[in-house]
Amino acid sequence: MRVLASAPAKVILFGEHSVVYGKPAIAAAIDLRTFVEAELRDDGRIRIEAHDIKVPGLTVSFSESEIYFETDYGKAAEVLSYVREAINLVLEEAGKKTGVKVSITSQIPVGAGLGSSAAVAIATIGAVAKLLGLELTREEIAKLGHKVELLVQGASSGIDPTVSAIGGFIYYEKGRFENLPFMELPIVVGYTGSSGPTKELVAMVRRRYEDMPELMVPIIEAMGKLVEKARDLITAELDEEEKLRKLGELMNINHGLLDALGVSTKKLSELVYAARTAGALGAKITGAGGGGCMYALAPGKQSEVATAITIAGGTPMVTQISREGLRVE
Ligand code: MEV
Repeated sequence: MRVLASAPAKVILFGEHSVVYGKPAIAAAIDLRTFVEAELRDDGRIRIEAHDIKVPGLTVSFSESEIYFETDYGKAAEVLSYVREAINLVLEEAGKKTGVKVSITSQIPVGAGLGSSAAVAIATIGAVAKLLGLELTREEIAKLGHKVELLVQGASSGIDPTVSAIGGFIYYEKGRFENLPFMELPIVVGYTGSSGPTKELVAMVRRRYEDMPELMVPIIEAMGKLVEKARDLITAELDEEEKLRKLGELMNINHGLLDALGVSTKKLSELVYAARTAGALGAKITGAGGGGCMYALAPGKQSEVATAITIAGGTPMVTQISREGLRVE
C-alpha cells in the first residue's frame, strides 16, 4: 500500500515573531505544495528520498537516508530532519515499530520563509498516519507538526504547521486557531534568494527581548494590536478597495516593527520599497526574515510589482491563496 499526501506553503500576513510571545497572527496557505508518498518496508528501516528540494541557487536530489546527513547540503539536510522527527512521532503515536519509506517532492523553496519545513512535516504526518491506519483530524496533525518544530527548532509558535494542515486564512493565537473568511488577495511574493534561518532569528529576537524588555515589550504589544486591527478589517463589511488600502497600511507598519526587532535585511527592505514604489498598497517581510521573502499587496499592479522586484534583484512569485490544507489520497 502507498499513500500520497500533500501540504501547502504559507505566507504570514501579519504577526510573525510576536506570535512566539503569545500574540495573535494571521496566515494564509498558498498554492505551492510539498508532496510525500509513504509506503511500508518490511526490513524495519526508515528510508527518506527527497527530490527537487529547492535550496537557494541549487536543486538537490537525495536518495539513501543513510547518507544525506553526511552531505553538506546544509539547508536541505535540515528539512529532512523535520521528516525524520515526523515519522518517529507518528510511529510512536500508532505504537508501531515498522520500516517506512517516504519520497518527497516539493515546489516550495527551502528557507524562504514560506513554511517549507512545516509543509513537509504535515504532509509526512498525514501520509504515514494513513499508512499505519491511524485516524487523526487535521487539528491533531497540526499539533504533531508543532511538536516536530519544537523538537527540531527549539522554539515555535505552531502557526506554520497549523496553516499548512488547515489551509485558507487563519487567525492563530497560543495554539488555537479560527478560520477567517476567504478573500482573494492580489499578492506578489518576492524572494531575496537567500535563506533566513528561522531558529536563529527567533533566538536573536529572544536575546534582544531579554536584553531590552523596556523597548521590545511595547513593540511586540503593538504588533499584537495591529493583528487585531487586521482581523477586524478582514471580517468587516467594508468596501473591498477601502479594506485592501487599510490592510496595506497595516502591512507597512508591521514591516517597520519587524525592522525594529532586527529581522529585516538590506535586500528585504529594497524589495519592500521597490514594490511600494511600483504601486503596491503595502509590503512587508513574511516569515522569519533575515533573507527569505517579502510580500506585497498589489491589486491591479501585480505585474508592475513583479517587474520592480526583479529589477531590485529579487525573484517574484505571483501566487494565489489556497483554500486547501493537507490532502491525503
Ligand atoms: C516563521 O514562519 C514565523 C515565526 O513567527 C516563528 C514561529 O511563529 O514559530 C518567526
